[in-house]
Amino acid sequence: MLNVNDLHVAYGQSEALHGITFTANPKETVAIMGRNGMGKTTLFKSLMGVLPTKSGTVEVAGQDVTRDESYRRVKKGIAYVPQGRMIFPTLTVQENIETGLENARHKRIPEEIYALFPVLFDMRKRKGGNLSGGQQQQLAIARALVTDPKVLLLDEPTEGIQPSIIKDIAKALNEIRKLRDITIVVSEQVLSFALDVADRLFVIEGGRLVHETTRENTDAAHIKQYLSV
Ligand SMILES: Nc1ncnc2c1ncn2[C@@H]1O[C@H](COP(=O)(O)OP(=O)(O)O)[C@@H](O)[C@H]1O
Ligand SMILES: [Mg+2]
Repeated sequence: MLNVNDLHVAYGQSEALHGITFTANPKETVAIMGRNGMGKTTLFKSLMGVLPTKSGTVEVAGQDVTRDESYRRVKKGIAYVPQGRMIFPTLTVQENIETGLENARHKRIPEEIYALFPVLFDMRKRKGGNLSGGQQQQLAIARALVTDPKVLLLDEPTEGIQPSIIKDIAKALNEIRKLRDITIVVSEQVLSFALDVADRLFVIEGGRLVHETTRENTDAAHIKQYLSV
């Protein structure tokens, strides 16, 4: 469903990703684990077309999107929840979700969205900026989901979020997988969260994938070594 082949991405002269190759299958959730500065956000931005690709290819559902602008990638079925959530603080919850509908076929918020995130229904008239970090994260996920993506990218969704809400987010992601044919790629530093949601885990270090494992075979101590400074 998502096919990333030998992806190189640079900031000016400085290469940050040195040939990333992985696939994520239909209905699969994949976690990209790594410390700060290892290249997670750079990877997601390049998958989304926010950063240009130096070389390599990205395919979504069999279509090459490597040279597409972001909005075309959205049309081809990829959606993105950026690190730090980036919701609109002065828009209401409902208006924030509606911004995701611009490129969607249906112009109304599907009921399924509020069923997944009841707190967003309760708070739909409130300004996004008045929500807690965890609620804003749920809002950012809801906004991404209304485009009905085949591939959903989430960049560090648990960052700065309290443990009880982290559990809620894991539950919501697992619920989404049951409801839809969706492939999820999530970057993370919290191993317990990744093990709650992911079928396969990769470790990124210095712009390279250096380790891959299935959830069942995960050597937690080994992965924690990569995650500790
Ligand atoms: N805008 C930028 N300009 C130059 N270098 C950058 C920029 N953003 C990130 N980098 C560098 O790219 C590398 C990967 O960063 P990033 O993708 O943000 O890592 P992560 O998301 O895993 O914390 C780091 O060495 C970082 O300093
Ligand atoms: Mg990052």
